[in-house]
Amino acid sequence: MPEHLSAAVTITTTPFSDQKPGTSGLRKRVPVFQQPHYLENFVQAIFDSISPPQGATLVLGGDGRYYNREAIQIILKMAAANGFGRVLVGQGGILSTPAASCVIRKYATFGGIILSASHNPGGPDGDFGIKYNTANGGPAPEKITEAIFSLSKTIMQYRILDVADVALDTVGEYAIGKMTVSVINPVADYAELMESLFDFDAIRTLIAGGFRIKFDAMHAVNGPYAREIFLNRLGAPVDSIMNCVPLPDFGNGHPDPNLTYAHELVEILYGENAPDFGAASDGDGDRNMILGRHFFVNPSDSLAILTANAKLAPGYREGLAGVARSMPTSAAVDRVAVELGIPCFETPTGWKFFGNLMDAGKVTLCGEESFGTGSSHIREKDGLWAVLFWLNVIAVRRQSVEEITRAHWAHFGRNVYSRHDFEAIPSDAANGVMKHLKDGFATLPGQKFGSYTVDVCDDFSYTDPVDGSISTGQGLRILFTDGSRIVFRLSGTGTEGATVRIYLEAYDPDVARHHLDAQVALSELIGIAGDLSQLVARTGRVQPTVIT
Ligand code: G6P
Ligand code: ZN
Repeated sequence: MPEHLSAAVTITTTPFSDQKPGTSGLRKRVPVFQQPHYLENFVQAIFDSISPPQGATLVLGGDGRYYNREAIQIILKMAAANGFGRVLVGQGGILSTPAASCVIRKYATFGGIILSASHNPGGPDGDFGIKYNTANGGPAPEKITEAIFSLSKTIMQYRILDVADVALDTVGEYAIGKMTVSVINPVADYAELMESLFDFDAIRTLIAGGFRIKFDAMHAVNGPYAREIFLNRLGAPVDSIMNCVPLPDFGNGHPDPNLTYAHELVEILYGENAPDFGAASDGDGDRNMILGRHFFVNPSDSLAILTANAKLAPGYREGLAGVARSMPTSAAVDRVAVELGIPCFETPTGWKFFGNLMDAGKVTLCGEESFGTGSSHIREKDGLWAVLFWLNVIAVRRQSVEEITRAHWAHFGRNVYSRHDFEAIPSDAANGVMKHLKDGFATLPGQKFGSYTVDVCDDFSYTDPVDGSISTGQGLRILFTDGSRIVFRLSGTGTEGATVRIYLEAYDPDVARHHLDAQVALSELIGIAGDLSQLVARTGRVQPTVIT
């Protein structure tokens, strides 16, 4: 019997009923994953649903959060017992989500497993997560995640190799059973890809000329990537980066780059003697926040501005095939697409919906209001990519972040935008809010609320133009006659109770009002959203947990 089979053990198990992947993989509290067989069941369900050919190559890495190392060891031993020939694993078990996507594509592997709960807090009582990405480098489509879930409900056994742990901290090749584990530098391939897309010479000159940047890795995975790219390759001074040592609990922080959780960076950019440019990324490095001096760039605007300026970056000099945004993302990019004469697609929330459009060559840039921006260079959103894109645009235009944004609004008009999140609401109450709203939809069209008149309302559904698959129940939309919108959606990424998100958008072409704070400019819509949803009465919440 071959050695790898002789060491392989089949373990009897019983199913867990709660292994349904959400917006982006399976996310649970660490203690849930630490239950005997919990991770193993899910991994076996992945392997059984994708049935890799004997000898296939897998990519494996995570954001370094608590339980990352233990999980990597388990998955390596299971991959060997399930017939994989090679696993490319990031040194120390680290790979940012964009870097994992890059490596899957560059080495044409069968797929990859990414260990992350993205922007959710980590640590022994924090969150952990796992997701499978296919050969295109993107998150598995719903038909695969559904197959995984369905197998997880009936699983009776899994296979694992009974061998010692693999040395993860030194780059090199190791054998476990018949399988090779290649421990790779997690940064090199990714940094090389970034250098091929952006004008590093121009950015280096900008920084050498005194342009000051501050990048906050929030003690998460992008620390080593930022050090290599900003310090080593772009020559930025060492104080250009902060919180760049990845920690299993993210230094007790909440690694979500928004105005609430990235407050340390926000205080610096809004303080005295602020740098010219600030940016942060999340736990697994795929989200981004862009700041100028005393200035915040809304993610929906960021997508629109990068689209409008794409030709300034070498990787996009030939122009864009098209753009895509998720439904709750503002329509700012739609206006740019019209001017450029390129198609603009509106998808449900979740990066996975962009994959088919990119694979089919229909879109080049994509973005979401949830601080995600990216392009067809990989099949995940990409935090550092967005930061480098902005720096490339600034280096060419020689204008500040605020000047670039205001010039954009002056030209295209401003899609004033904000999202209000109400976190950790009992599921019943949250479902009640959604049901109440939906029940009212039949009579809403034509009704007037202050200066707004309801045009149509619906529960968003999407037919994928490439494979024809249909996704329903993707968010409740109230569209007003002047193009303004209120969208209600339940988060698909939380682990505790439910999170109600209210997305508010009003279009304003008048430059004289573009200086207004979004909360002020949207105050009437905010009031209407409260009235229509009965949110306060149904949840007892008066204030949102997070406003972005
Ligand atoms: C993850 C996905 C994003 C998506 C976001 C939505 O970050 O990768 O593509 O936009 O979740 O999260 P939500 O909590 O609103 O479902
Ligand atoms: Zn993330």
